Amino acid sequence: MLLKINPLKPESKLIKIAADAIKSGELVAFPTETVYGLGADALNEAACSKIFAAKGRPQDNPLIVHVDSIKMAESIGEIPKEYRQILNEIWPSPITVIIKKRPILPDSATASLDTVAVRIPAHPIALALIKEANTPIAAPSANLSGKPSPTEAKTIIEELGEKVAVIIDGGPTFFGLESTVIDLDSFTILRPGPFTPEEIAKKFGKNPKVYVAPKNVQKPISPGLKYRHYAPDKSLFLFSGKPTELAKISNGLDKNFCIIGSNELCDSIYNKRALKIRLGARDNSYEIAKNLFSAIRSVDKYEIEFGICETFSDNGIGLAIMNRLGKACGGNAFSNIDQLKKLIKINHI
Ligand code: TXA
Ligand code: MG
Repeated sequence: MLLKINPLKPESKLIKIAADAIKSGELVAFPTETVYGLGADALNEAACSKIFAAKGRPQDNPLIVHVDSIKMAESIGEIPKEYRQILNEIWPSPITVIIKKRPILPDSATASLDTVAVRIPAHPIALALIKEANTPIAAPSANLSGKPSPTEAKTIIEELGEKVAVIIDGGPTFFGLESTVIDLDSFTILRPGPFTPEEIAKKFGKNPKVYVAPKNVQKPISPGLKYRHYAPDKSLFLFSGKPTELAKISNGLDKNFCIIGSNELCDSIYNKRALKIRLGARDNSYEIAKNLFSAIRSVDKYEIEFGICETFSDNGIGLAIMNRLGKACGGNAFSNIDQLKKLIKINHI
């Protein structure tokens, strides 16, 4: 069932229909300020298992539990005393904290870890849904495992469709990238997101560490980090030099390819074989973040052989943009035409 709900003033009658589905153990896709989530009652083991089945998600990748208050957060996990007041001030916002879990949570919500990921989402529909269902809602992003997270309801209809009892259409999400995940114990950002390292340092009064994945690890600290993510079926290559250099390379290429880049870069490319996917103005990183996932998704729809992505500054939300772009390109980076030719050859293009 598709429910169109006003994102600023959610209609309570419609929220009740979705909340009833949650209470009876069904899956509900709903918007948050970051991306759409695929929700189930976090206290219902069987309901949480349905999320893994619908997404094809590996069993060892735990879910984020969404709550509407500090009180509800404390019913499922132990918030360290020194962080309680800070979280009270900064939530609702796109930051997820990893804390020790309480036994009330079923193993399927936390993939049997002794910690849980919790956040209060800053979206009227998400908050109204949790309040009405009166239970914490476990919700990973509402995409098939490995694909970019959905920022619009129509992507979920295409990708998950009948597997979801209720899909709420609340319009496009605000940020377009998933929440920042921080492990409070080691004070380490496991996944950069819209809540930036600069803001964390300011609000918490200390600098977070930023997790950098070592190569070939079997057991990374956040299970989701080890899986292939955000990548389209076609190969994407990340250019790590200056945009003027990339324009030169692109204008000389004798292949059908796409460019995922800023308006400024796209304006400087005139090669007819280059399909330009515009992310927005280069200095508007929020606009770039918002358009990133639909741009990556669209790559597979075009008659092209591969795609090239521009590199952006990693200040502020730029760290999250570059994190997702790096994963979408699967580590395939180049800084000159010879390296690009090698990548094209290795990928059998
Ligand atoms: O913005 C978001 O966070 C969205 C919306 C729907 O809230 N949700 C989302 O969930 O992106 P998901 O499941 O796609 O990503 C959750 C990430 C995964 O990388 C997972 O491994 C990590 O959080 N995670 C969850 N529980 C964890 C835990 N106990 N310890 C370490 N990492 C954990
Ligand atoms: Mg996800």
